[in-house]
Amino acid sequence: MNVIPLPKKYTENEGVYRIDGKIRSDFDLPLIADYTEKSDGASFEIIKDEDVANEGYKLTVTPERLTVKASSKSGAYYALQTVRRLCNFDLGGREVPCCEIEDEPRFKWRGLHLDESRHFFGETEVKRLLDFMFTEKLNIFHWHLTDDQGWRIEIEKYPLLTEIGSKREYTQVGGWGSGDIEYIPHGGYYTQEQIKNIIAYAAERGITVVPEIDFPAHCAAAIAAYPGLACFEKKTEVPGYFGGLIPEKQGNLRWNRTLCCGKESTFDFVFGVLDEICDLFPSEYVHIGGDEAPHGEWKRCEKCQSVMRKNALKNEKALQGWFESRLISFLKEKGKTAIGWNDIIECPGLDDDGKSLVIQYWTPKRDKHAERYAEGGGAMILSNHQSFYFDMTYAMMPLDATYNYNPRAFGIDADGDNVLGVEGELWSEWIPGREKLDLNAFPRMQALAEVAWSQENKRDFSDFKRRLDLLKPTLEKLGIGYAVDRVSLNKNIILSSKVQSEFRKGNPLFETELNKEYKAEGEK
Ligand code: ACM
Ligand code: ZN
Repeated sequence: MNVIPLPKKYTENEGVYRIDGKIRSDFDLPLIADYTEKSDGASFEIIKDEDVANEGYKLTVTPERLTVKASSKSGAYYALQTVRRLCNFDLGGREVPCCEIEDEPRFKWRGLHLDESRHFFGETEVKRLLDFMFTEKLNIFHWHLTDDQGWRIEIEKYPLLTEIGSKREYTQVGGWGSGDIEYIPHGGYYTQEQIKNIIAYAAERGITVVPEIDFPAHCAAAIAAYPGLACFEKKTEVPGYFGGLIPEKQGNLRWNRTLCCGKESTFDFVFGVLDEICDLFPSEYVHIGGDEAPHGEWKRCEKCQSVMRKNALKNEKALQGWFESRLISFLKEKGKTAIGWNDIIECPGLDDDGKSLVIQYWTPKRDKHAERYAEGGGAMILSNHQSFYFDMTYAMMPLDATYNYNPRAFGIDADGDNVLGVEGELWSEWIPGREKLDLNAFPRMQALAEVAWSQENKRDFSDFKRRLDLLKPTLEKLGIGYAVDRVSLNKNIILSSKVQSEFRKGNPLFETELNKEYKAEGEK
């Protein structure tokens, strides 16, 4: 068996079926047109069968016939992805080993996130990522479209969000805590037409696009465009700093800025933006961020303090809870479910019955609020930092940390219905383009896919690595610059001193160089 993610049940038999380029299908599957021609009498057949699990499939391969049964179009496509792996289709293989497979996903939420604020990748890169998500049977694209360092989605009611908020003059380089700046303008955004096009592209691949629009923090780009959104109206820039130990660039204002919760005009803005977001994205879920809200400006703002007194909110965390609750109920009225980072369940007074809110559990350490929330049946997506933060270097988070993710270590029973699934996060502070994107995303995406799709009791890192080795020629053929797994390489590798010293300083950009040296040495 060479398939990633590993199917639920399989038996391998003698012999092969040879794909002859003809297929008969009960489903309309336009994406297979490139390697098959429709033909009524074909021995390669896709049959609609309502008894098969949603997104699941049954595959029977004998020397004479290849039969797929599925109840959904996604299930039919996933069966074809399995066939593609079984015969090494991308390498020119057409012989499918005889087998019987019954497969279905462990989790309904199998997500990958992309931060386009810190670096903007654009439509071509996003579609390429969606293509690879499709082959790995991932089905949620969590699109981080706004943050301090850039607003990346056209909002018709507020044109300055993109006119001003999508551009910055400089970018911090060299890793967390580095004071190094590159004075190269960076910008970009998606028009609503492009967004619709990407949503449709994803939908054909069984992928739901979930937008993330961050409130009330991580709003410096929006505030640069509309200074009245902040507690203190003052012209500020779109920052190119990402955080860590950095100089305070804008007087005493931080790179991570919050909206003023004390003005009704803030809610007019937020609801105006969310109106357009809800109209654009068919997703049931809208991610509203809610992480890492600094309280400094709220503490000094008379309007925020006055709202706190009026609503008997005992501190600024409660003010955030009051703010989040208004957003959650706004979305609920529009028929949507809000997602927030787990920071928001620390806010007193939050509507956290788990029905109108999903939390995304990201914090690096076991978190008692998240634990309690899950125990109470609150809905949850698991993205724990030490396993699923794909921006991390492999030195800090080797591949097995992703593969061997154990929700119980975080106090979570992932078998409950309230756990929707898992997600990998591609934060892009240190990912300026495709080369680094590939390195950080592959083969972590394959490890994530196996956590998300396959049965937990079958997870075995050494068998995964065996199958990954079989996949590498395909990844190379498809032009994917994946990371080598250093854990398993010869420890006597001699690296150049420059690469070593930059890497030790924590410069994540040197991971690309390190990977090349490991790869060259490891393959000798
Ligand atoms: C996060 O990493 N602040 C969600
Ligand atoms: Zn305020």
